[in-house]
Amino acid sequence: MVSPEHARSRLVAALRRGVRVRTPAVAEAFATVPRHLFLPGTPIEAAYADEAVAIKYAGGVAISSASQPSMMAIMLEQLGLRPGHRVLEIGAGTGYNAALMARLVGPSGAVTSVDIDPDLVVQAEQNLRAAGVDGVELVAGDGALGHPPRAPYDRIVLTVGSWDVRPEWVAQLAPGGRLLLPLAIRGSQLSVGLDLGPDGLLHSDSVRSCAFIRLRGVAAGPDASVALTDDGLAVQVAEEAPLDLAGVRAALAAPGPMLPAGVKLGSADLWDGLGLWLAVTDSAVLRLLATGPAVEGEPGRRLLPIGPDRGTVALAAGVGGPRGLGAVVVDPPVTAGEQPAQGAIWLQAFGPAGPELTGRLAALLDRWTAQDRPTASELRVVVVPNGTSAGAGTPAATVIKQHCRLLLDWPAAAGRGGRPHHGGPPHPPRR
Ligand SMILES: C[S@@+](CC[C@H](N)C(=O)[O-])C[C@H]1O[C@@H](n2cnc3c(N)ncnc32)[C@H](O)[C@@H]1O
Repeated sequence: MVSPEHARSRLVAALRRGVRVRTPAVAEAFATVPRHLFLPGTPIEAAYADEAVAIKYAGGVAISSASQPSMMAIMLEQLGLRPGHRVLEIGAGTGYNAALMARLVGPSGAVTSVDIDPDLVVQAEQNLRAAGVDGVELVAGDGALGHPPRAPYDRIVLTVGSWDVRPEWVAQLAPGGRLLLPLAIRGSQLSVGLDLGPDGLLHSDSVRSCAFIRLRGVAAGPDASVALTDDGLAVQVAEEAPLDLAGVRAALAAPGPMLPAGVKLGSADLWDGLGLWLAVTDSAVLRLLATGPAVEGEPGRRLLPIGPDRGTVALAAGVGGPRGLGAVVVDPPVTAGEQPAQGAIWLQAFGPAGPELTGRLAALLDRWTAQDRPTASELRVVVVPNGTSAGAGTPAATVIKQHCRLLLDWPAAAGRGGRPHHGGPPHPPRR
């Protein structure tokens, strides 16, 4: 059996090779904190694999896990912790990330970590003790409210996905402090590092793709996806665009012609690249998701494989007009796991408005390609908390949340091929 020390140094080497770990301090924290002691009962190989390890389920769905080490490394680099920092973590889970952060802020700093499940907090306390980690205060409670008794914080980090930016987090940040959170933006979840400016706005410093368990409690957001059919086809929409579900169903039942798109895409592009860019650029964009392998005759059989499942992006028609979809598809249909990293894609029309929508989608694809295929890491986000006024300038898109507005832009991409704007002819909003 491999020793914990050997498994740990192999993991750190892999994180360095993959450029997940960039700074010596983060490498030292991963090399020092014994992850296996935060996963009692988990075999050493699994504890040090670069994978998330689920530790609690509800209704068959994981509601707590030790996050994937490479994602943790990406976020620790985004967080930019320094000795002496005071940090609040929301989502204590096993306590492992809190232990890494305690190492990074050192004895002059302080880590407070909150979890909504008291039983997880008790276990995390035991884990920290077993690992001999000092300097972490664990709190059982709803992290939506932050933790005022130890505020202000130089850094607040969520290791759980959020739909909104809560005013409590902003209020508990020290001037110039950084909030890092997996944030739902137009159907993608992005790890966004936001610095609090003197103007009271939060300005993104870095954006990365991520996929976290979502917050429970008072800040649990709306469901990310809505079931379309009984056989596992679902639709995921931009938050502020109400959806004509019946229209999407009717359109899918009427598949029309396909045209080659002239570009190659991989499944990562659906969330991180084209999918995100389209969703930011045009509010009529939705994503279709299907579980399990494709079935002959099923409307979603030409979706792109994503691991064991499938998905795609599509433009939907407005309410009141002819129904339809223009969707990115693969032809011939491929089964899960068969898709090359980048494969040729087609645009397929569904329903009477489908041909017009595929034309619009083709024009948007041309713009995305002309801008050198912008990805999440180039997105810039400004968070305008409710009650704060935004500065001058018109963003590429504005997303309305309950407690804030997100102003979204692709400044680097704009320099390469014109600033994104709503593509094609105007269209009525979807219901
Ligand atoms: C991916 S896990 C966090 C992993 C953890 N940082 C670690 O190192 O093990 C997400 C955690 O968020 C917690 N959570 C969910 N909603 C919460 C809320 N409203 N407040 C605080 N914690 C919450 C879950 O119970 C879960 O333990």
